Amino acid sequence: MKKIAVMGSGPVGEALAGGFLKHGYEVMRGSREPTKLAAWKSKAGDKGLIGTFAEAARFGQTIVLAVKGTAAVAVLDQCGADALAGKTVIDTTNPIAEKPPVKGVLALFTSLEDSLMERLQRHVPAAHFVKAFSCVGNTLMVNPKLPGGPPTMFICGNDAGAKGEVKAILDQFGWDIEDLGGAEAARAIEPLCMLWCIPGFLTNRWMHAYKVLRP
Ligand SMILES: NC(=O)c1ccc[n+]([C@@H]2O[C@H](COP(=O)([O-])OP(=O)(O)OC[C@H]3O[C@@H](n4cnc5c(N)ncnc54)[C@H](OP(=O)(O)O)[C@@H]3O)[C@@H](O)[C@H]2O)c1
Repeated sequence: MKKIAVMGSGPVGEALAGGFLKHGYEVMRGSREPTKLAAWKSKAGDKGLIGTFAEAARFGQTIVLAVKGTAAVAVLDQCGADALAGKTVIDTTNPIAEKPPVKGVLALFTSLEDSLMERLQRHVPAAHFVKAFSCVGNTLMVNPKLPGGPPTMFICGNDAGAKGEVKAILDQFGWDIEDLGGAEAARAIEPLCMLWCIPGFLTNRWMHAYKVLRP
């Protein structure tokens, strides 16, 4: 079974690390301060490990990037480009700016002609970035149960093999999949977090997900 590194001590790292453990993977969670994950490790059992970002990057055959958007480049540097080369990096990050939302509408630090994932892909060209899990809240990331059936996860990335790997994971995690093509599609996928968050900020509704209806 594959070894997964989950970079991130926040709620997305927690949810996805739990999902991978549930589905039988070995998981190492990475953080600048791994000791903050000690309580998680004590509950996770012998398939749950913790380490620095660099240790987790070396451990993982597949990498999940679940860190603050403004810190994502710095975290890749701490992982080390050599440790990421040739690996699939599941990019959950959103380019949320350090500003309060305006009437529930978040600001991004990218434009519609650029995306965070394209920046990350340019920063570590030898890694295979695939956008996934960015357009839904952490509590719905693993086998979501909603009245309308499986919701749709939008993904994109330049490497077909890496996307195939992520599609297999999304199947296990209970998602319908819409593959939107190359990394440039992250310009459209990342802003979906703005839309997703508005009902939350305005009326405290956080338990929805997108679904594409097809003929
Ligand atoms: N929360 C959600 O439901 C949700 C849903 C979809 C997508 N996302 C996206 O997923 C990503 C993770 O979100 P999150 O809510 O789990 O947590 P978060 O608070 O956005 O990120 C926490 C992680 O970012 C790292 N970090 C923060 N500042 C850093 C810095 N200056 N240098 C290095 N690392 C730094 C932290 O490292 P340490 O462990 O060292 O503290 C921690 O691991 C974000 O990009 C977010 O936009 C979130």
